Amino acid sequence: MKKWSRKKAQLSFFLSLFSIFTLSSFLLSTHKATNGQVGPTHEKSSSSTSSSSKLPSFPTFSLTTNFSPSSSQKANNLVLNALDWTKACSSTREYNGQQSSTLQQRGDSIGRREETCDLFSGRWVYDDVSHPLYDEAGCPYMSDQLACTKHGRPDTEYQKWRWQPHGCDLKRWNGTDMLEKLRGKRLMFVGDSLDRGQWISMVCLLQSLIPADKKSMSPNAPLTIFRAEEYNASVEFYWAPLIVESNSDDPVNHRFDHRIIRPDALLKHASEWEKADILVFNSYLWWRSGTKIKLLWNAEDIASCQEADGLDAMKLALETWAGWVASRMNTLKQRAFFVTMSPTHLWSREWNPGSEGNCFQEKLPIVDKEGYWGSGSDVDTMRMVRNTLEGLGSKVLVLNITQLSEYRKDGHPSIYRKFWETFSPQQLSKPASYADCIHWCLPGVPDVWNELLFNLL
Ligand SMILES: *[C@@H]1O[C@H](CO)[C@@H](O)[C@H](O)[C@H]1NC(C)=O
Ligand SMILES: *[C@@H]1O[C@H](CO)[C@@H](O)[C@H](O)[C@H]1NC(C)=O
Ligand SMILES: *[C@@H]1O[C@H](CO)[C@@H](O)[C@H](O)[C@H]1NC(C)=O
Repeated sequence: MKKWSRKKAQLSFFLSLFSIFTLSSFLLSTHKATNGQVGPTHEKSSSSTSSSSKLPSFPTFSLTTNFSPSSSQKANNLVLNALDWTKACSSTREYNGQQSSTLQQRGDSIGRREETCDLFSGRWVYDDVSHPLYDEAGCPYMSDQLACTKHGRPDTEYQKWRWQPHGCDLKRWNGTDMLEKLRGKRLMFVGDSLDRGQWISMVCLLQSLIPADKKSMSPNAPLTIFRAEEYNASVEFYWAPLIVESNSDDPVNHRFDHRIIRPDALLKHASEWEKADILVFNSYLWWRSGTKIKLLWNAEDIASCQEADGLDAMKLALETWAGWVASRMNTLKQRAFFVTMSPTHLWSREWNPGSEGNCFQEKLPIVDKEGYWGSGSDVDTMRMVRNTLEGLGSKVLVLNITQLSEYRKDGHPSIYRKFWETFSPQQLSKPASYADCIHWCLPGVPDVWNELLFNLL
């Protein structure tokens, strides 16, 4: 039996501020982003009420996905429909440490794979021969949120770094080989917009090897599928930013400031996960905020909720997920990976003391500070994730991308992406104020996450 410690992440004042600003940026993004990320047209700019004049240097963009929702969600006793969610949690009290009822016995450790070399410990090496692995403009599935050159980024050095582990060499990326590994299989990325970036990276890495009439993309939110016919393979993205069932499961219509989760319910999602052969999960930024997350335990009494801080709520969700992995995942057929938290670069003083910017105009990785770790990557969250994953033995492999991505302050879109907000003249005069230092340009850092995935498959 696990004890629920009520120990909270003791965020420093600084960290709290960071969180509040982060949340605010989401709070203020009530718009619905529906650009044509896949397929060139149906872009639609939205009018968002950007009332952020009081906020210091912070972007107002959202972590929403860019696909239109399907209206096919069926309401039943187990799955709440959109209307239920809007009525939920009229009365709330403090989270009392209740544990997920679906918590299953853990998978016995089949023994963790002994790595002779830690692929995640290493350094970035400038190498414009091997990287980038594809051309931004040459990928028809590129997202406007991540296409930095297209949106005016003048430098391209950020595309030309390769990851060099300390103890060994990575197997070089080979798209044909990757497609062979995927033959007859479904590779499914599951998570939020960071995971979606990794999925787009994988699609861009592979798509040029497939003739135009043998590939297709079907956006059918929350599941979007890229198919490679000749290989009978697919590379898919399933939107589930909080892993368990939540009021944010619609990729477009959700309110970050009113997150409600059902801590012990994920069968709606898992019914899709069960069809995949290789699963790549992530979840982190959606739990980070200054406000509490509401917990709805009983679908028959949707009025009564509890409120928990992000770390407690994420722990509950991951326990439920771990229970599913341990009891329902078919380890003979399925493999799973968990991508650790993607770092943000919101405060340049963390790598350059005395400065007051963020990732805007950063052109180089951090190369002289081995082990550099910014305040955006919460150590308590990492510990919790690690404990949860260790309980699953070798059923889930860790893609521990946090440290290597910490070095890449140069890798974010900053102001060079499509924004759906309208910025005030004041914001426009200070570009850093709306820079996106959370997502990653493509080609770029997520390609390397996929090279690591390729090495582990
Ligand atoms: C890439 O992989 C394919 C299939 O596994 C193999 O035939 C080919 O030689 C590899 N290419 C390189 C450059 O290693
Ligand atoms: C294609 O792959 C699916 C699994 O993704 C499998 O069920 C099906 O039998 C495969 N079809 C062929 C023709 O190999
Ligand atoms: C990931 O690596 C860091 C060191 O860079 C380590 O502290 C952390 O525990 C690792 N996380 C997991 C989930 O293994």
